Amino acid sequence: MSWTELLRVDALEAGYGNIAVLFGVDLVVDHGEVVALLGANGAGKTTTLRTISGLLPAKAGTITFDGRRVDGTPAERIARMGLIQIPEGRGVFPSLQVEETLRLAASSMPKADVKAALERAYSLFPMLAERRTQTVGSLSGGQRQMMALSRAVLVKPKLLMLDEPSQGLAPVVCDELFTVIRALAAEGVAILLVEQFVGRALELAQRAYVLTKGEVSFQGPAAELAADESFVAGSYLGHVDEETLQAAIAEEAQIELPHVDVERTPLVADVPLEIRLGLEQLARERGVRAEDLIAELVAREVQER
Ligand SMILES: Nc1ncnc2c1ncn2[C@@H]1O[C@H](COP(=O)(O)OP(=O)(O)O)[C@@H](O)[C@H]1O
Ligand SMILES: [Mg+2]
Repeated sequence: MSWTELLRVDALEAGYGNIAVLFGVDLVVDHGEVVALLGANGAGKTTTLRTISGLLPAKAGTITFDGRRVDGTPAERIARMGLIQIPEGRGVFPSLQVEETLRLAASSMPKADVKAALERAYSLFPMLAERRTQTVGSLSGGQRQMMALSRAVLVKPKLLMLDEPSQGLAPVVCDELFTVIRALAAEGVAILLVEQFVGRALELAQRAYVLTKGEVSFQGPAAELAADESFVAGSYLGHVDEETLQAAIAEEAQIELPHVDVERTPLVADVPLEIRLGLEQLARERGVRAEDLIAELVAREVQER
């Protein structure tokens, strides 16, 4: 591992039970670098991120983060090292207020730093500042994605892994989201970005990887891939072009859905890591078990249905 490398994945194999999904993936993210991870549906992008963040075991190969081998390390410890994944979908407790949720995410940091961290999150996401006392359940899909990003930002990750952050968002909201991602990158946060909007991802990234059926089929400068019109148009990935996709999303965004229908009850396993770390901290302070606190919150969600 060279000193410029923050994350190094070598010959990674992973899957689900007996089903093999990744067949020897090699991937590097340098300190402060933005790297796009692209590929058709089912190529193994999410599986790659899950394995790196320790949510899935590696069957073979190695993962090195910030100079330490992390394959086999529990996901919580990897998160504490500064490697944060924002999962597809945005599972969080809808009955909690925006500020409550952020405080929860921040509660594993020193008390003295919490105020500054919250202010930093609110300045990156003014939209959230205006909605401090609103419940998360009352936010739109885009606002919830901002919320998920802001939680991750609180803990100042070294590497942020984003799994299709623009999924289901209207184009305008998508623009805002990418502005924030760009701002994070400018602050020096390294980003591994899985994205369906290939054009946008390549604009932001310095380098890109394309996964095909669990193997890296391209790696190189993002500009090189961006110059390949047929690739960006999406035929290669089996996607429609961005204009068609955005039009479809815009149409969808006009349909107002009741919140209860779109938000399913969060299961304990779905609780994002930074929230879980916060709950553990809170539990220690109150002298109760973290599982009881989580169960209490989940029960409250079910009750509010
Ligand atoms: N929980 C799971 N159990 C079994 N197979 C899964 C699971 N999640 C994903 N897969 C399979 O693994 C393959 C890769 O999926 P995934 O990593 O989600 O792809 P991508 O994120 O690139 O769309 C697909 O064939 C998918 O069906
Ligand atoms: Mg995926």
